[in-house]
Amino acid sequence: KNIKIIEVKSEIGAGTRGASLGVDAIKIAALDFMSNFFVHFPTEEIETENKLLFEPIESPYAKRIKGTINMYERVSKSVCDTIKQNWFPVVLSGDHSTAGATIAGLKLARPKAKLGVIWIDAHADLHTPYTTPSGNMHGMPLAASIAEDNIENKVHELDDNTVKLWGQLKNLGKIAPKVLPEDIVFISLRDYEKEEEHLIRKYGMKVITTNEVRRKGAEAVARSVFRYLHDCEYIYVSFDVDSLDASISRGTGTPVSNGLREREAEDLISKFMQHRKICCFEITEVNPTLDRENLMAEIAFNILQRSVNVLMMN
Ligand code: ARG
Ligand code: MN
Ligand code: MN
Ligand code: MN
Repeated sequence: KNIKIIEVKSEIGAGTRGASLGVDAIKIAALDFMSNFFVHFPTEEIETENKLLFEPIESPYAKRIKGTINMYERVSKSVCDTIKQNWFPVVLSGDHSTAGATIAGLKLARPKAKLGVIWIDAHADLHTPYTTPSGNMHGMPLAASIAEDNIENKVHELDDNTVKLWGQLKNLGKIAPKVLPEDIVFISLRDYEKEEEHLIRKYGMKVITTNEVRRKGAEAVARSVFRYLHDCEYIYVSFDVDSLDASISRGTGTPVSNGLREREAEDLISKFMQHRKICCFEITEVNPTLDRENLMAEIAFNILQRSVNVLMMN
């Protein structure tokens, strides 16, 4: 596969500042390891809306959603073009809201094909503006992708403008939903709210716990994931670094205990990358301002490098 790197140094979807520096922290990690990894691949940097962080918030239950829509348009176009030109997009993003844009781009590139998603994350990111506990858009990319409102569990009344903008985000590219709930697999999910749990139960979504990964091992887990997604034609892997255990994930905005070890995540992701249906890989939520000695970015870089090595052999 021919790799293209898409950099999205956006952090407007996160509640803690600093994730926009994650991409550069990963590059610094490469330099510290004396690796010339980044020399080898064409790279596109997407313009961000981070200037909005200095402005007052318009929608408290969908913070900076206008900027998120603009970012989604740019990222989805870039991902779509990359796929159409027969490149494999590796997306390095600041916060995880970007993944909704990546999914949109993949769907726009192949509107008729069934898309599967492997979501490696402590969180489900299935909130909507109606249910969000924080208003942060990085908690919502999967709800946007499955075009979910979760009205049954409504917590907040929204103003008309927020309703309109959320509608735009869900319908970006005029395809909704972009992925079906049954075509999403959560790995190491362990921190979610009851509104998200309701959706996971209602749709019977597939969840693989940290313990299952530990017990069964990378190879068996990968096999069962691809068996589960057998009717999907292409599959995207989204790696939120907070899927890793809190003991090694100080350098992310929302660390959670009982997560994956570095080696477990690395083995599992490189197994996924061997599969012919894998069409895109994203690494997100590295925040070096919270870290010590750039550890999170070093781990992310190790996983990136091994994954890309596997992709290039396939
Ligand atoms: N569920 C919480 C929220 O909506 C946390 C989401 C964390 N998401 C992430 N991509 N780190 O605020
Ligand atoms: Mn996430
Ligand atoms: Mn997360
Ligand atoms: Mn199915």
